[in-house]
Amino acid sequence: MLTIKDKTFVPFITADTIQARIQELAGQINQDYATRQPRIIIVLNGAFIFAADLIKHLTITCEITFIRVASYSATQSTGQLKQIIGLNEPVANQDLIVIEDIVDTGFTICEICDQLKAQQPASLSIATLLFKPVALRKPIDLQYVGFEIENRFVLGYGLDYDGLGRNTQDIFVLVEA
Ligand code: IMP
Repeated sequence: MLTIKDKTFVPFITADTIQARIQELAGQINQDYATRQPRIIIVLNGAFIFAADLIKHLTITCEITFIRVASYSATQSTGQLKQIIGLNEPVANQDLIVIEDIVDTGFTICEICDQLKAQQPASLSIATLLFKPVALRKPIDLQYVGFEIENRFVLGYGLDYDGLGRNTQDIFVLVEA
């Protein structure tokens, strides 16, 4: 059990399960991009641990770029988006793989993809550790999904609650009051 501020979280996905799934995802990406040299775009902050573990298993040659957007406050998605920060190189004609921690309403990833597609990349795919299909508000194609989960607030392994709780190996879920 984990208590952060006023909230209690209980174990949800273990470190072993996460790592095994990441190896599978990396295997798929290695196969799919065997003849390409993609640019991996890591969405900070939440995806930093997932991305680090995933890319260690990639055997393809790739470039890595870190971007940020801010769209979330406390436990509810605001739908408010800011511009992508940190995309300093043009991405036209490149094969892009965006790495996200979680797709909830889908607004964040859709906004990122729209902004990237405006530059006309050769291809764009998305790898997300977690996906909440029930919460999705915008249709989106997700090529690499670690785990589909129910519509509950999760924490740890990069994901935060009010900036706290990112530093765990397991993923926890909020105990609803
Ligand atoms: P979306 O725009 O609603 O898809 O939200 C995506 C962003 O909200 C993610 O990149 C996370 O930063 C954050 N988020 C969504 N659901 C959760 C959650 O259950 N725990 C922690 N952060 C979340």
